Amino acid sequence: GLPARVRIHEVGARDGLQNEQGVVPTEVKAEFVRRLADAGLTTIEATSFVHPKWVPQLADAERLFPLVRDLEGVRLPVLVPNERGLDRALALGAREVAVFASATESFARANLNRTVDEALAMFAPVVTRAVEHGLTVRGYLSMCFGDPWEGPVPVDRVVAVCRRLRDMGCDELSLGDTIGVATPGHVRRLLTELNEAGVPTGTLAVHFHDTYGQALANTLAALQHGVTTVDASAGGLGGCPYAKSATGNLATEDLVWMLHGLGIETGVDLGRLTATSVWLAGELGRPSPSRTVRALGGA
Ligand code: HMG
Ligand code: MG
Repeated sequence: GLPARVRIHEVGARDGLQNEQGVVPTEVKAEFVRRLADAGLTTIEATSFVHPKWVPQLADAERLFPLVRDLEGVRLPVLVPNERGLDRALALGAREVAVFASATESFARANLNRTVDEALAMFAPVVTRAVEHGLTVRGYLSMCFGDPWEGPVPVDRVVAVCRRLRDMGCDELSLGDTIGVATPGHVRRLLTELNEAGVPTGTLAVHFHDTYGQALANTLAALQHGVTTVDASAGGLGGCPYAKSATGNLATEDLVWMLHGLGIETGVDLGRLTATSVWLAGELGRPSPSRTVRALGGA
């Protein structure tokens, strides 16, 4: 069966805007987050406290976060790669953080300048301290299906890193198809093997990119397996600056269209959300790649 309700983890302001060529003004980002909240999204990934030279698009995190942190009833997770990032997030009152690991050595090197083991060692004190501060901690795992340098990624390798993130104390794991190559059978295999390794479905989220047009099919496979948290990006913004073959995330509008059609509640007002993506596309100077935004947005 399918769940009655899905929690959408909105990543447009982070995964989307981190990949823009130009730097979006802080006030436009804040307005974007406010409009997403107004459209009914309750988990909005706001920004990253990473090295500003690595992701200049999000170098304004200190100015942005205070503009949005008081939004009523909204969870505002932020990415933190290391203790320096955690310190910055704690100083601003962040209540939720995410670390971001890789299943492959190539991407760990490209994204974090570390081996897989070194990256996990970097995260361990971050997770411990975040938990001590009462924060909710998400562990992302990238390249769960395929890697641009290494090709298909073995399921057992993904399972092994997931278990280490869980043992570290992550509350939730988000399974990233960073370059969008997954297909539904592969998703089912990974979820099944994670369960067999003792990782409960209730602690899992899925994070699909739509490079090969498979994101919705993969999401449906995950829902049928019992997953109830789905990452998506308003208007299909996104990619990853350190994985060149990654294109946009699953568009939140496309996801909401499917979920509402299935009778699954999201709390999202699709009209308001589409209007937000049309507005942001105007600010960015190019149309949204989302089919649903194009169909409903009059663009
Ligand atoms: P590094 O160069 O190895 O850094 O980068 P380091 O630890 O050697 O430190 C060097 C200097 O940077 C030091 O300063 C640190 O203080 C400073 P110095 O002492 O030389 O003056 N520094 C920082 N400054 C501010 N904030 C910080 C910070 N950390 C160190 N947090 C590092 C290592 C992890 C920092 C770097 O590689 C980095 O920032 N990477 C982030 C890359 C990123 O954000 N990628 C995108 C997110 S992942 C993604 O999109 C995938 C996802 O969507 C899921 C999916 O689709 O698969 C989540
Ligand atoms: Mg991503």
